Amino acid sequence: MSKNILVIQAHDDMKTSRVNKRFSKEIENLDNVEIRDIKALYPDYKIDVQAEQEAIKKADKIVFQFPMFWFNAPSILKEWMDKVYTLGFAFDVTKDGYQKRELDGKEFMLTVSMGGHEAAYSGDYKSVDECLTPYIYTSKFCGMKVLEPFYTYRAMQNLSDEKLEEIAAEFKKAILR
Ligand SMILES: Cc1cc2nc3c(=O)[nH]c(=O)nc-3n(C[C@H](O)[C@H](O)[C@H](O)COP(=O)(O)O)c2cc1C
Repeated sequence: MSKNILVIQAHDDMKTSRVNKRFSKEIENLDNVEIRDIKALYPDYKIDVQAEQEAIKKADKIVFQFPMFWFNAPSILKEWMDKVYTLGFAFDVTKDGYQKRELDGKEFMLTVSMGGHEAAYSGDYKSVDECLTPYIYTSKFCGMKVLEPFYTYRAMQNLSDEKLEEIAAEFKKAILR
């Protein structure tokens, strides 16, 4: 049986996106994939916590998809995590210490596009993983299995249409992995 995959898309404006919009097209008609464009759903940042938690409960694998913004995710994703990963849902504190809850055992994957090229992330900026440790550590803390990420570099004008088509096919494979 195929796994249920939840893709939390956190683009500031998918309408103006080239790369993430193209990626999204690759997976939008798959029966086992639910895409939630959280900025479109919550332009005023008022997250429907119950709806998001229900979507999470159904998922075997949770994917965060976003463009890198100032060495981080767009701010809507932080708001989403702060509101959705509540005490009692994502984890609990009991007399025996921290207890994992609804996220425990699910898979987690980051798919992130960068304007910068790969070399830039092994020099002054040590690595994309290092920039995104809050997302990786939060997932681990809540008991999720962190999978190999899918990072796309040079995701701007210097990425040709042909190359984008190739990467979009790889993106789909990574999502379904
Ligand atoms: C506000 C803002 C901040 C950005 N910060 C970074 C950054 O820190 N590192 C980087 O590699 N690219 C950065 N970029 C470039 C975006 O990551 C890039 O435009 C995006 O991944 C392209 O995807 P899209 O076509 O789906 O919008 C930034 C772009 C914007 C608009």
